[in-house]
Amino acid sequence: MLSATRSSSIACTGSAPAGVDTQLIIMPWFEDDPPGVAGGFDEASGGELSRALASNEFPARLYDHFMTPVARAGGPAWRARRIMFVGAGPRPAYSPEVVRKVAAAAGLVVRQHRVADAALVLREDAIPSSDVSEIAQSAAEGLTLSEFDAGMYKTEDLRPARPPVWAIVVADDAAAAGAAAAAARGRLLGECSNLARELANEPGNALTPREFSRRCERIVMEGGATAETLDEEQIAELGMEMLLGVARGSSEPPRLMVFRYTPADAPAGPVLGLVGKGITFDTGGISIKPADGMERMKDDMSGGAAVACALRAIGLLEAPIRVIGVVPATENMPGGRALKPGDVLKSASGKSVEVVNTDAEGRLVLGDALWYARTLGATHLIDVATLTGACTVALGKITSGLFGNPATWVEHVRRVADRAGDRVWPMPLFDEYRDQLKSEIADMMNTGGRPAGSITAAMFLKEFTGGLPWSHMDIAGTAWADEAKPYVPKGPTGVGVRTLAELAFTSESWNP
Ligand code: BES
Ligand code: MN
Ligand code: ZN
Repeated sequence: MLSATRSSSIACTGSAPAGVDTQLIIMPWFEDDPPGVAGGFDEASGGELSRALASNEFPARLYDHFMTPVARAGGPAWRARRIMFVGAGPRPAYSPEVVRKVAAAAGLVVRQHRVADAALVLREDAIPSSDVSEIAQSAAEGLTLSEFDAGMYKTEDLRPARPPVWAIVVADDAAAAGAAAAAARGRLLGECSNLARELANEPGNALTPREFSRRCERIVMEGGATAETLDEEQIAELGMEMLLGVARGSSEPPRLMVFRYTPADAPAGPVLGLVGKGITFDTGGISIKPADGMERMKDDMSGGAAVACALRAIGLLEAPIRVIGVVPATENMPGGRALKPGDVLKSASGKSVEVVNTDAEGRLVLGDALWYARTLGATHLIDVATLTGACTVALGKITSGLFGNPATWVEHVRRVADRAGDRVWPMPLFDEYRDQLKSEIADMMNTGGRPAGSITAAMFLKEFTGGLPWSHMDIAGTAWADEAKPYVPKGPTGVGVRTLAELAFTSESWNP
């Protein structure tokens, strides 16, 4: 474990490409670059680049790649042995986000080719509006994300190559000095994202609530924050019937993880409260899910993993404010003592809930956890959860739903997420939606029917936020890639980690 964090650092160099000492130099190539552009790459390839462009062997569309040896006979003296051109799209669209994805795509190819060391040319001159550090950080994140290996339990396949030693090539020595710290930050955030992917990828039999909490404790404590895990008795003392209710159908006991990061001379406020859904397997309970695809529900703790891994990053990067993390962890199983539709539970906050569908378990455990984050002193809340299939219907697999209030806090989170490379889009929480949760017997029901399913789920959570600034990211569609893309393989994505971590560095602009 923690394999993803034993990686080497990423060097930044201001050398001209010819002087970079590496096996493979990677050159992002814009659709409209003329072959003669920048640093004699065509010459170095012995004219292979212009030939490949002319013949369309390398059409230079986004993420296309073309690898060629450096010409030796009579050519320029380059230290690299090979060059890989990678399509970077149209030059005006080049951005830190494109850099992150191009770097990840290039990194995945490099791994396939079992290259031991490689250097990525940043081409930061093509983004005059951003400074080199933001671009270098994105590149380091992308390169690091490409190192994740989902085949954790394979014993027979050829194991993937060890991750290469990476370097980033910037325009000159001054830029290299500015890029180095940013690349280290990107490296760390990429590693923490990969750790969250490792956790989400773990099968339910390996990652029980107890094992999940043990792993998260280590992840968080190695970053310098504290971690404490409450057992079922302590959870009962807090009155968290919603969390206990979900856990009742399982023979695995629930856990409640509590993380605290307190920097030296921290201001009294604000205190960021991170809450993550930690269902280590979701069968649906008595309202059981269909068999087809149920294996995917091992990743229903992705939000909780994002919280723990973000806290690790927050500790290692020494965020300036206090941060609290709360992760309720349990299985959702249909055992003999399981919750039944119609059961009424009393939440820790005191509100009563009629459970009409036991498969709407995430909001139950999160309701108690949000309340707890509040009692521990959080002033600003954000939760991350694989909460509703309805969110995937609304926004698909590339965008997480963003909910919350007030609008200023939600908009702030949206901007941070956008920069961090986690696509989110705001969804409405009009008061009228609350009517769908009305219960005849209790304060509310735990589902609001099919219409606006992701919104009524968020409305349910809102009941437990005590009016604090609160954002909710529904990552049901984004936590797992069903299809490989050039920049991300099939499997867990690590969504949310970088947003949560970066959020802890933005408190100077929070108003309420
Ligand atoms: N963990 C699921 C949501 C989910 C579904 C995530 C598919 C990823 C892929 C959640 O606990 C759930 O089952 N939600 C129900 C809510 C419904 C019963 C109101 C859903 O979305 O169907
Ligand atoms: Mn469910
Ligand atoms: Zn669930």
